[in-house]
Order: sequence, then structure tokens, then C-alpha cells
Amino acid sequence: MARAKERLIIALDVDTAGEAEALVSRLQDHVGLFKVGMQLFNSEGPDIIKRIHRLGGRVFLDLKLHDIPNTVGQAAAVLTRLGVFMFNVHTAGGSEMMKKAAAGAVRAAGEAGVSLPLVIGVTVLTSINQAIMENEIGIPGGIQGQVVKWARLAKESGLNGVVASPKEITAIREACGPEFVIITPGVRPEWAAVNDQKRVMTPKEAVKAGASYLVVGRPITGAANPVEAAKMIVSEMEEGLGC
Ligand code: C5P
Repeated sequence: MARAKERLIIALDVDTAGEAEALVSRLQDHVGLFKVGMQLFNSEGPDIIKRIHRLGGRVFLDLKLHDIPNTVGQAAAVLTRLGVFMFNVHTAGGSEMMKKAAAGAVRAAGEAGVSLPLVIGVTVLTSINQAIMENEIGIPGGIQGQVVKWARLAKESGLNGVVASPKEITAIREACGPEFVIITPGVRPEWAAVNDQKRVMTPKEAVKAGASYLVVGRPITGAANPVEAAKMIVSEMEEGLGC
């Protein structure tokens, strides 16, 4: 697996291309990837991906696709043509939808001559607790059991990995093996504010537990010196990896 720095993903949770480009220019040499979510993508459109690529950044496109299999398969092909390093779909869309997403990526990568992106499944969002899952969404049982069930389904459907909270890393790693990609938000160094994240782990704990990539936003993007904050997090990750 890649060095600590390559495993750090910065969440570009901003409205404008100008703000995003300023962060990419500053942080590009210190982190592995930049996450573009629905806020920035819906504000700036697909052109923002090209702009980040132009600055030398690699992109995790976090649009969490969830629709009928044919629609997701076609959308997966479009996102693949943008040349992103990874993108995601909801595991709750089921195995047929995930298979179409994986197949759409393979087809489009071949046709467009771009690298095959990692296709990642979103499991239970970290904002969902037991009561919401049971009473509102209507899924009985524990969250961890559901996350592991969806992670296994993602793997069987040909996805490369999942997004999950730090608390579920160990169980997913056991169920899905060493090659399966686990991406975890909800990471907070001891020196940073927790903000609205509820179930957090430090960068060191998260990589020790088996996370492949960490998504960090505000502790870096909101820091007085984002480069220093990124370097501190990378060195904590190195400690956790024992390198
Ligand atoms: O600023 P912060 O480090 O909390 O940012 C975390 C990022 O990870 C945000 O972009 C958020 O949308 C995303 N995320 C999350 N929890 C999930 C899935 C995505 O915090 N379950």
C-alpha cells in the first residue's frame, strides 16, 4: 500500500473553483488526493475536475450515485471519462446497480483510453445512528452488521472498496481481506476540533485499524496553516503505519 502521504484525501468542501484551486495549489505536494463532493461539483460542473488535474491533483469524485442500474452504469461511464482516480455509488442501490457501475467504468476506460478508476461503495453514513436506521430507514439490527453486509456485497459486485466510519474498519478488513480499499472520514487529530463529526478516530488509530485512505476536511482546510496541518496528520499516519 502507498506511503502515508498518498493515503490522505482532502475534502474540498467549498463553493468556488477559485477556493478549490487555491487549496490544491498549496496542498498538492503534501497529500494524495482531493475529494470533490456535491457542493463543489454542482457549483462548478465537470470543468472543476479538469482544473484540478491541470494543477496536478488526483480526484476522488464523491457524488454517491444511487439510481436504477442502467442509469448508474451510464453515469459511471461519464465520470470515468473525466479521468478521476476514484468515484463512489451507494451500496444500498443493490448488487445489480453496483455491477453496472463497475462495468460502466471498465467500458468507458477502455473506450476513452483513461486509467480505470476505483469504484467505491458508500455504506451507512456516519450521520446515521441506530434509531434513524431502525425507525426512519427501516433497517433492523446493528449498524456494524449492516456495514459489513454491504461491504461484502460491494466486493462480490466487483467494487474496489467502501467508505465507512473509523469504528467499522476492523470488521470490514476481517470480512473483505487485505486488498479491499477502506476509505474513512470522521478523522480528527487530538489537536483539532471535532466539529459535527460524532464517532471519530485519530489519524494514527485509523491507519492502525486498517484504513487505506483517510478523508480530512476542516482540520486542514480551516487551519491557519493548511500545509503544516497536513504535514502533522501525515506524520501521525506514519507513526500508525510504523514507518
Ligand atoms: O471537515 P471534515 O473532516 O468533517 O470533512 C469530512 C468529509 O467527509 C466531508 O466532505 C463529508 O461530506 C465527508 N463524509 C463524511 N461522512 C461520511 C461520508 C462522507 O464526513 N459518512
